[in-house]
Amino acid sequence: MIMQKKEKESIVKYEKITSIALKRGFFWPTAEIYGGKAGLYSYGHLGKYMKNKFEALWKEHFLSENYYEIESSAILPESVFIASGHLEHFNDPLVECKTCHFRFRADQFIEDNLKIKADELTIEEMTKKITDNELKCPKCGSWHLDSVRWFNMMFPLALGTTEKDVAYLIPETAQASYLAFKREFEATRKKLPLGIAIIGKAFRNEISPRQTFFRLREFTQAELQIFFDPSEIDKAEKEEWQNISKYKLQLLPASHQAIKEDFKEISCEDANKKLGLPKFYVLNMALVQKFYFEKMHIPKEKFRLRELNENERAFYNKIHWDVELQFETLGDFKEVAGIHYRTDYDLERHEKNSKENLHIFYNDKSFIPHVLELSFGVDRNILALLDIFFKEEKERTLFTFPRTVSPIDVAIFPLVSKEKMPEKALEVYNMLKAGFSCSYDESGSIGRRYRRADEIGVSFCITIDSQTLKDKTVTVRDLQSMKQERIKISELDEELNKAF
Ligand code: GAP
Repeated sequence: MIMQKKEKESIVKYEKITSIALKRGFFWPTAEIYGGKAGLYSYGHLGKYMKNKFEALWKEHFLSENYYEIESSAILPESVFIASGHLEHFNDPLVECKTCHFRFRADQFIEDNLKIKADELTIEEMTKKITDNELKCPKCGSWHLDSVRWFNMMFPLALGTTEKDVAYLIPETAQASYLAFKREFEATRKKLPLGIAIIGKAFRNEISPRQTFFRLREFTQAELQIFFDPSEIDKAEKEEWQNISKYKLQLLPASHQAIKEDFKEISCEDANKKLGLPKFYVLNMALVQKFYFEKMHIPKEKFRLRELNENERAFYNKIHWDVELQFETLGDFKEVAGIHYRTDYDLERHEKNSKENLHIFYNDKSFIPHVLELSFGVDRNILALLDIFFKEEKERTLFTFPRTVSPIDVAIFPLVSKEKMPEKALEVYNMLKAGFSCSYDESGSIGRRYRRADEIGVSFCITIDSQTLKDKTVTVRDLQSMKQERIKISELDEELNKAF
């Protein structure tokens, strides 16, 4: 009964957020006027502002000395994916109804119906679960379901006119960084660690896309591939390690999951010594956690790093922990990013398949660098922000976004749309728009305008009133506290900059 109430609340919250998103311009289904297409979503202006902020924040946090951003084609030739293993392994389990021919994802179908974890089962085990439990087609209700089989999630296309030149839309940005490695290593300082970052689109033909941004067929990834000398994986600069060794990570190791424990605070030192995680990996876990706490201001209890066991790990990973955030609307902690130790898996296979030498000479030896990948789904992170910062108060519905990710920094209102107030308000708008994302609103009562601004999480509302015309001051209202302060127009830029 309690569970049912929680589920209901999740659905209600999800519907409220989606409704604000559609109405106010965060996102909507692509080609909506033609009925939309599952797994394809577009950003409206507010969503795009947030996405831009997230990406800028991500670059500011993760790109440092000898770490660079590049850009690549989103179409890559088949040979890349033969080498990377995606053609062989990048599959999800599919089941088809023999009566109505509806196709859906088998593990999710089992999880939804039997409330058990199914992503680690073999396809034979999934078929057995479906048969033993007499599960029925979610569309037509028929029992005649086919055996579960693998379905490759890449989108193939043909280059040119002959259909012989097969290529694929990239299912992850990572492969493009591996293809760029040799050039970037030569073009930069021939030094490790070398970071290559791409923020770009990835495409996956998901069998059952759902939950708006959570499972899309086209989405944005922000991925950083860090190429390093494997003999240095358990080394760290003494001072850097000392600074971080007592820092507490919120970890849920695989062994704790088996006994249904929650995440624990474990120091970086213990993560290294007791959990056996290499120092370079731990340093990057701390970097990622700090991104969520210090830049995104995610509440501590809503964040964890979860270790994936051998059956759950992606085929290229030796160590794999996911960043999970608690989504009330989806009823649980869900993956939004991953920290992947991919070893030399990708470069070694690209060397073998392309016959190009991808060894480097560094630290007096010749070797293929190893890769530690920080992989973020941008859209899932945006969805998490909408979920986590949505709040209902007696008088208002709001997003309590931290200023680092709020879509609109300042909304500017003339108190009335006469007596030269709109002109003054537009003057303020034009003065601030280069440094802040601004909006202008002169319709309805000031109270209604505040509510509208709160509903989309505007950090500050600036009101131009009759006093403004006399003494060149405005009122600035804070989203969270609703406190108002009078500030000189000439000091606005400086004061707002302090706040952001
Ligand atoms: N390069 C490694 C990689 O792609 P992944 O776990 O498959 O790893 C990384 O994907 C991130 O991309 C995920 O943590 C998730 O945030 C996002 N992602 C993956 N599939 C997605 C989908 N269908 N829709 C939206 N985001 C997705």
